[in-house]
Amino acid sequence: MNFYMNTVDLIRKKRNGESLSEDEMRFLIHGYVHGSIPEYQMSAFLMAVYFRGMSDEETLTFTRLMLDSGKRIDLTDIPGRKVDKHSTGGVGDKVSLILAPLVASCKVPVPMISGRGLGHTGGTLDKLESIPGFRTTLTLEEYRNIIQRIGVVMMGQTSEIAPADKKMYALRDVTATVECIPLIAGSIMSKKLAEGIDALVLDIKTGRGAFMETYEKAIDLGTTLVKIGNGFGVRTIGFVTDMNEPLGIAVGNWLEVVESVHCLQGKRGRSDHSADLMEVTYTLSGAMVYLGGKANSIEEGIQVCRESIDSGRAYSKFLELVEAQGGDVESIENLSSYPLSTNIVEVKSPKGGFIQEIDSFELGQVSILLGAGRTKLDDPIDMKAGIVLRKKVGDSVMQGEPLAVLYTDKDSVVTEARHRVAQAYTITAVPSSRTSRIISMIDMEGVHPFN
Ligand code: URA
Repeated sequence: MNFYMNTVDLIRKKRNGESLSEDEMRFLIHGYVHGSIPEYQMSAFLMAVYFRGMSDEETLTFTRLMLDSGKRIDLTDIPGRKVDKHSTGGVGDKVSLILAPLVASCKVPVPMISGRGLGHTGGTLDKLESIPGFRTTLTLEEYRNIIQRIGVVMMGQTSEIAPADKKMYALRDVTATVECIPLIAGSIMSKKLAEGIDALVLDIKTGRGAFMETYEKAIDLGTTLVKIGNGFGVRTIGFVTDMNEPLGIAVGNWLEVVESVHCLQGKRGRSDHSADLMEVTYTLSGAMVYLGGKANSIEEGIQVCRESIDSGRAYSKFLELVEAQGGDVESIENLSSYPLSTNIVEVKSPKGGFIQEIDSFELGQVSILLGAGRTKLDDPIDMKAGIVLRKKVGDSVMQGEPLAVLYTDKDSVVTEARHRVAQAYTITAVPSSRTSRIISMIDMEGVHPFN
């Protein structure tokens, strides 16, 4: 390490578009985490990265330094190839709730570290915590014990996992430097690589309800993430999926648990409108089963997963997970025992026609208004609140028919929420059609069409 490094010189170097060496980057990250580099200098550095980017080599180094700021969990003594999934976040994206027990029920261990809701997107931890008693704060020892015993565990980031990311992410959030591909890639992958996994499947969302609105940006981010994962010896593949309408029918924590339980129970309780959710879930879980060595192709993996849902094995594994993490199994077995919102209000269609678009960004915002999400990190969440869609893209609708149902305890927001949800639907006289939510697949060979 060069002890004569000067933070201002390094900020200037990046500002001028030059690459930083490993020692220079270590000096910055180490200094920031240990308090010798103040937030105003790290903010300036992050903004320089935002405008100037990083080379592939710098991004890999940045990720390694973020990873090395904390512990890398060692799960090598647990048999089987451990595989996880990460999604860049969407509206109504409850895939992890279904996929983690599903893949574990196919004998592929799933150690999953998840996040909370961010902006208009929900977070897996908040959804799990809507199950009474479910604990997402675990010690590393509990994490190891649960995965060893039942083959699946789902918890939040601890202070031992990538602490540099924890501190830097909070700073990015308030300095308008979140939407930057090398910073996002380092942040996501440092946490995922710390989990002790052998392989990773990524869901990179694109469209109106996603952080990467354009397909080109999603491909850029996906390619960077795939290169980093494979660069660390973790076999990684990505899928770019469409977030131009909410996934499935429910937006809101407990409402999403209910939809997930219906999906895990197979055809008996599932709405036809959850078909897109299951398309994404089967594709990602099929890829995980393939990477976990329990199928010879992704397609075969998808078949194995379908059989696990149909046989009830996936649902049983979900109940085991709920019990292992302190959750109330009875509330899952008897979904109607959960308290209901004081306002349950239909949003009626202002006209007849065909649903062309549903603005998922706007529905994500309205769900926050109803109480389902946060505008500040420590805002409380109403677990019951949210939206259930009655109409999705491709449906026909008559004037006065319900488009959606709102759930909230907040009387004062009902009128505004009802108006905004109706406005979020684009209804035309021209028939519309449903398309696949899976747009393409990314691996080390490049980008491939997938369906
Ligand atoms: N999710 C993360 O974990 N980090 C980012 O930078 C963006 C999304």
